[in-house]
Amino acid sequence: MKLSLAPIQSYTTVFYRYAHRVTFNTFDKYFTPFFEDDKQGGWEPVLQPELDTKINDTSILIPQIAANEPEFLIRSAEKFAELGYKEINLNMGCPFPMLVKRQKGAGLVAEPKLLENILNNFFKKTPDVKLSVKIRLGVNSPDEWQNIIPVLNDYPLTEVIVHPRTAKQKYSGEVNWDEFEKIIAVCKHPVTANGDINSKETYLDLQNRFPGVSSWMTGRGTLINPFLPGEIKGINYSSQDKKELFIKFHDTYLTIVKQHYPVWNHAFNHIRNFWYYPLQNIENGKRLFKKLKKHLIENEYSKWVNKVMNVTQHQD
Ligand SMILES: Cc1cc2nc3c(=O)[nH]c(=O)nc-3n(C[C@H](O)[C@H](O)[C@H](O)COP(=O)(O)O)c2cc1C
Repeated sequence: MKLSLAPIQSYTTVFYRYAHRVTFNTFDKYFTPFFEDDKQGGWEPVLQPELDTKINDTSILIPQIAANEPEFLIRSAEKFAELGYKEINLNMGCPFPMLVKRQKGAGLVAEPKLLENILNNFFKKTPDVKLSVKIRLGVNSPDEWQNIIPVLNDYPLTEVIVHPRTAKQKYSGEVNWDEFEKIIAVCKHPVTANGDINSKETYLDLQNRFPGVSSWMTGRGTLINPFLPGEIKGINYSSQDKKELFIKFHDTYLTIVKQHYPVWNHAFNHIRNFWYYPLQNIENGKRLFKKLKKHLIENEYSKWVNKVMNVTQHQD
């Protein structure tokens, strides 16, 4: 089986991916959060440090694009290929109304003609870069995918990643695995399953239900519990392993962030994001996170970290 880290804007940044890979090395593939064209339609998204080849592995990182026309996708593919990336991913899942309204992200699921035009041009003009897509079931209704799978089937995609919710659901509510089942029956491409795979048990249940699916993606489950991909792959971490690995993970993250943002207040935004998810699920975690918000001074942060490490290990 293959496991990918889901793109999560502001959280699965280059620093997070780097620290996770160096510490755990349990993902087969990583995706960047999406890059988008600027409002004027002139390409100038900031590629560094997000795609820095010194701290990304170009063979397993797939940059993601949100676009509603082929030119931007093609220009992006060319820029990324210059840096050494071999594949890009088209975002057809982002539910933000501003994007959906402009037929980007999940909005593309409702636009089969537009999608066809994008894919047609992409494969004509960018034969050397591979393409995958990440989709939702629809904008409002869970069967809208039926209009786009036949289009996707006509092109040589590497995979179709499915987060089986509608855009209307955003990130909560039930994941519709019944609809997912219908997609795998008709999609000609390898399908990756994504959505609330937050424990090894959930993964095993889903694997049991969908034995033909061999590719899985986790996002928030990993942000909450960075050991999750290893656990899914059968690693048994002892409490001691967990303690040491989590410290290594944090220290690697902190070091790489500080290298890029020597001014502590700038680094701090990234540090806060590192802690947001892990502190959601532990006793007193939200209170500890609130305290972190006040700890802008670097040596106070160190004291806070020591306290948190004790609390989290205590609960193990
Ligand atoms: C805050 C946030 C930001 C996200 N950003 C992206 C993104 O940039 N691109 C994308 O394809 N999906 C994005 N997603 C969706 C995730 O990749 C994933 O599909 C979704 O969270 C379901 O998987 P999970 O339950 O394992 O997290 C985002 C989700 C959240 C909660």
